[in-house]
Amino acid sequence: MQIVLLGPPGSGKGTQAKILARQLGVPHISTGDLFRQHLHEGTPLGVAARRYLDAGTLVPDDVTESMVRARIQEPDARVGFILDGFPRNLSQAQHFETILSDLERALSVVIYLAVQRHTLMMRLTGRRVCPQCGALYHVQFNPPLTQGLCNVCGAQLAQRPDDREDTVATRLSVYDAETKPLIDFYRQRGLLQEIDGELPVDAVTQSIGGALAMSHD
Ligand code: AP5
Repeated sequence: MQIVLLGPPGSGKGTQAKILARQLGVPHISTGDLFRQHLHEGTPLGVAARRYLDAGTLVPDDVTESMVRARIQEPDARVGFILDGFPRNLSQAQHFETILSDLERALSVVIYLAVQRHTLMMRLTGRRVCPQCGALYHVQFNPPLTQGLCNVCGAQLAQRPDDREDTVATRLSVYDAETKPLIDFYRQRGLLQEIDGELPVDAVTQSIGGALAMSHD
């Protein structure tokens, strides 16, 4: 399965990608996580990406595209992948078609998680992440068992710097201007499956399972 998860910031792409990756045995490839990893390690790519992540704008296409081209050729991704956060504009989507055709591969399905703006704002500003193992929480919808500590590894939870209200507003505007057109792009190619991302996490997972089964037929 070669799956793209499409949706606005906070729609649940990361949450669902982690579950699907376990269920399907394919890697979860998040361009946001890859950039944050580079940033953490202080690589030249991380240094170059920092100002875009901090501002909530897109990292330049050439940097992002070559990072994805390299990642999907790693051994674990030969059986498939779940892409979360890429492509993010028309140019990336067109370039991605070239990458896949160069590698003689094809997308199975694009899952679009539809969520309303006021829900996104609540989800993003209340999100907490574990800096050690990457587990995701929400102060209201999915709180940790012990306040402020990760259930999995016990590390102190943190807020992503770009989850503060002003940066969230920029990210949502960038989504509307740059990423939303991909809904029609993939609909026209017969690849899009729209899922109600407002539902609870388990119900969203179930709907995605149904959509994946349909895309196999
Ligand atoms: P990235 O890390 O990709 O951020 P994003 O797309 O803005 O998405 P998020 O990770 O914020 O949200 P999500 O949809 O994964 O939601 P989640 O599951 O966490 O990108 C960050 C930055 O990197 C960009 O701004 C850009 O600078 C750069 N970048 C990345 N990709 C790029 C690209 N292709 N090109 C250029 N630049 C790029 O859920 C959110 C919260 O809601 C959590 O707290 C969760 O617990 C909760 N939640 C999830 N589902 C539900 C549910 N069903 N019900 C209730 N709560 C829920």
